[in-house]
Amino acid sequence: MLVFLAGGAGYIGSHTAVELQNSGHDIVIADNYSNSSPEVIKRISELTHRDVAAYEADVCDKAAMLRIMTAHRIDCVMHFAGLKAVGESVKKPLAYYRNNIDATLTLLECMQKCDIHSIVFSSSATVYGEENPYPYVETMPRGRCSNPYGWTKSMMEQILEDAARADPRLSVVLLRYFNPIGAHQSGLLGEDPQGVPNNLMPYVAQVAVGRRDHLTIFGHDYPTPDGTCRRDYIHVMDLAAGHVRAVEYAAEHKGTAVFNLGTGMPYSVLDIVTAFERNSGVRVRYEFGPRREGDLPEFWADADKARKILGWSASRNLDDMCRDSWNWQKRNPAGYKTGCL
Ligand code: NAD
Ligand code: WQD
Repeated sequence: MLVFLAGGAGYIGSHTAVELQNSGHDIVIADNYSNSSPEVIKRISELTHRDVAAYEADVCDKAAMLRIMTAHRIDCVMHFAGLKAVGESVKKPLAYYRNNIDATLTLLECMQKCDIHSIVFSSSATVYGEENPYPYVETMPRGRCSNPYGWTKSMMEQILEDAARADPRLSVVLLRYFNPIGAHQSGLLGEDPQGVPNNLMPYVAQVAVGRRDHLTIFGHDYPTPDGTCRRDYIHVMDLAAGHVRAVEYAAEHKGTAVFNLGTGMPYSVLDIVTAFERNSGVRVRYEFGPRREGDLPEFWADADKARKILGWSASRNLDDMCRDSWNWQKRNPAGYKTGCL
């Protein structure tokens, strides 16, 4: 199949691009590089020994999307293109609503015009909101989100579901990611946040490589086994494999299907620090700080539906995640800017 990856130069899109090509699919990428680099395209090509059709384009630009969709016989769209920093979304809600919702509407309108009937969407565990009990199951209603980023995901799920309800030819797969970490085992691809990392693993990795002095652990008085928050961390290459199964599922089904992509196993912040130190041999300095507003004490996935219906489950453990995150960070201490050491 030919898969169009909107936002495909980003962290999850780039790993999925490699996995798709290695599974025999073809890809086309569009990205405006607002949170990524053209260097990523070169590395995908290096890893797969194949040329990659890539366009520098804004997914909200309808004319550009129509040009790409008419130039290629696309079977399925994977929609990764979005702004994703939770804290920034609180400060700049309009930018988040504009970019994320507009990109989704533009893709759907262009797909309709170009007779493309299959879309896999990057959703998030954040749509379960604050009220649902864990583990989260796909049958639970979407909840109340604590920030505009989360609301964009919730609204985009609704838009996609409504589009599928109105068009019986359309297949929508909503993938709710839990906490993706890790990197491609080669160390050529990984997570390269701009500025100060918001997420735990890139922060830990940057402390280990000497870019940051120490990690601040947000709260140690939660009602969890060690007092720090627990999350369902999933290796980005397992996530990528889930996308390959999702695109194949979408080709055979109509309507909307929702899948959690997680491991079903929660780990605390202290578990992550300890596992990272064990796998890198480097000490990660940390201090305890106050709780971060909006953080839930713990949540994880019920990962049964993806296992039963997609035949997918995560195969990499926390040691693999930490080892690969470290391999990426130590080879690329300044991310994609420096190239490999
Ligand atoms: P990322 O920022 O690395 O990748 C997103 C890519 O989209 C970037 O390359 C960015 O340049 C591009 N982009 C953004 N807006 C665009 C636009 N208007 N036009 C063209 N390109 C645009 O993020 P990621 O971690 O790879 O996440 C991918 C998707 O998965 C996002 O939608 C994110 O919200 C979602 N998600 C991520 C996580 C996570 O923890 N990483 C968890 C759940 C869901
Ligand atoms: C993990 C744990 C922090 C940084 C976010 C989004 C979610 C999804 C994934 C996109 C928490 C703690 C973190 C630090 C810390 N993204 N932490 N010190 O908050 O579970 O989820 O990313 O959809 O929507 O909300 O991930 O990596 O930010 O935090 O102690 O410097 O690490 O408190 O317990 P989170 P995270």
